[in-house]
Amino acid sequence: MCGIIGIIGAAPACPILVDGLKRLEYRGYDSAGLATLVVGRIERRRAEGKIANLEAVLAENPLSGTTGIGHTRWATHGSPSEANAHPHANAAVAVVHNGIIENFQTLKETLVAEGHVFESATDTEVIVHLVTRYLSQGLAPAEAATRAVGELAGAFALAMIFAGHSDLVIGARRGSPLAIGHGDGAMFLGSDALALAPLTKRICYLDDGDVVELTRDGAIIHDQAGALVERPIRETAVIGDAIGKGNFSHYMLKEIYEQPTVIGDTLASFINPASLEVSLPDLPVDFAALPHLQLLACGSSWHAALIARYWFESIARVPVEVDIASEFRYRAPVLAEGGAALAISQSGETADTLAALRLARQLGQTALAIVNVAESTLAREADGTLLTHAGPEVGVASTKAFTTQMTVLACLAIAAARARGVIDHQREAALSAAITEVPARVAEVLRHDAKLKELAEEIAAARHVLFLGRGTGYAVALEGALKLKEITYIPAEGFAAGEMKHGPIALIDNDIPIIVVAPSDQLFEKTASNMQEVIARGGRVIFLSDAEGIERLGDLAAASVEIPAVDAFVAPILYTIPVQLLAYHAAVIRGTDVDQPRNLAKSVTVE
Ligand code: M6R
Repeated sequence: MCGIIGIIGAAPACPILVDGLKRLEYRGYDSAGLATLVVGRIERRRAEGKIANLEAVLAENPLSGTTGIGHTRWATHGSPSEANAHPHANAAVAVVHNGIIENFQTLKETLVAEGHVFESATDTEVIVHLVTRYLSQGLAPAEAATRAVGELAGAFALAMIFAGHSDLVIGARRGSPLAIGHGDGAMFLGSDALALAPLTKRICYLDDGDVVELTRDGAIIHDQAGALVERPIRETAVIGDAIGKGNFSHYMLKEIYEQPTVIGDTLASFINPASLEVSLPDLPVDFAALPHLQLLACGSSWHAALIARYWFESIARVPVEVDIASEFRYRAPVLAEGGAALAISQSGETADTLAALRLARQLGQTALAIVNVAESTLAREADGTLLTHAGPEVGVASTKAFTTQMTVLACLAIAAARARGVIDHQREAALSAAITEVPARVAEVLRHDAKLKELAEEIAAARHVLFLGRGTGYAVALEGALKLKEITYIPAEGFAAGEMKHGPIALIDNDIPIIVVAPSDQLFEKTASNMQEVIARGGRVIFLSDAEGIERLGDLAAASVEIPAVDAFVAPILYTIPVQLLAYHAAVIRGTDVDQPRNLAKSVTVE
């Protein structure tokens, strides 16, 4: 799971490649590297860690050349060391790769038996040796690359350069995305349009199985069957401007604070503020007759799906199932005829989510998507797409993307309810009014930032943290635990409050902070009982509730944070804000890398 870029032009390649890699760093930051052709010879520079480390290497030891490839890595096979950093190369060919070569072990054994010597622990290096095998048999670079690619199993997007061929970059893809940028006297390859945005607006996307030969004059594409093909060139709307942190110390904090605005922007495209009616773009689904909706997502997006299930069932009476995308693919799902599958993804590039939606389509479902990146693979492949208007999310921990996903899902649930005739105009207006109020109420929650920062001291010192909730509050508890884990590295778990007594309550002692998500809704009494049960066993509770809830139970908790009283329908959006801020401040106190936590990537493009 990585970002790749290639360039062939007249200008020095190195600064362009580095700039492109910075745009791709969301795909991984375990190591980075470049290779260029310097007077026909392959030269490369690599560094463990972030692109800044590669820049330091290049400052010491610059790289010239106008043809080159670059890579930013999220390690799958082999540790995140310099030796495992891409490009992998020998004197003949250099290769960068995004994906996983599933048959690399078998290929490697054969190649080693043939006398090839491996220098890294990566799956990618087999490609270098395969191509070299065919070059030494006298094949031209494009033929050698095509032969090598034909032997690979798994998912990949590749870019290669060849010694002595300064007017050639070869690209290939299967599973992982690869875009071609058409410039003036220059051609580019990149994992996405964002990487190429400052270079050209003219982009085409390779299809699965395509192999492309780039020269300064253009692109020659062959499909999987070897036929010469053309892929449509479109004007991309992606803007590649660098995104700043403004006055915030981290992107995550900036993105948390952007939520009132971006939730408002998202609502503006789905709700008419005058009539309080939801109006969605045309979707190829008749919600009135929909027998079943399958929700598919990973990570925080999966938590948004869990919340949406409550909404679709209770408001629209649509039968819903929610799956983690990576599980859905391998559990032989039985889906209703005429049903729809809805994939939810910030990036629109998550490999598991993409694969799950493709499977659902193969099983006869209409494929829908909610994405934040309008030109992402998911958006391009889905039969119908709804956009969150969160704007670019840079922090690896999802914040504003998550709350805008909930916003879109809430609007979709209202629209589905209307289509099915299960709510009248009055109820629709009430639900729409509740959601329209959310930006202002989120802004109110943000005013508790200083208090949450104080409470984060206790969290930052904890060895384990629990989050409890019921109903949609359970999904918020899961999200709180995920946020805390990924940026503080503190073990944290979210539980359905009623499930505690079935085992997890054994964890409770005086040292484990327990964050209880408890709006005064129809489940409040039940959650309150579960909270009493943990307090009775010495648990220290941070209680998130509204004025009424705090009035009733606040005295029992070690601390309370008052969330505005809102319709229970939109409560999960509001209760997400304090768990985001607790995680953020705890991470700052612990001194972790908030925006780029260890071992993670913003976009997970491998299975
Ligand atoms: O881009 P996606 O929404 O498909 O990403 C899914 C997950 O990888 C993502 O939500 C991840 O869990 C976040 N880092 C959570 O903060």
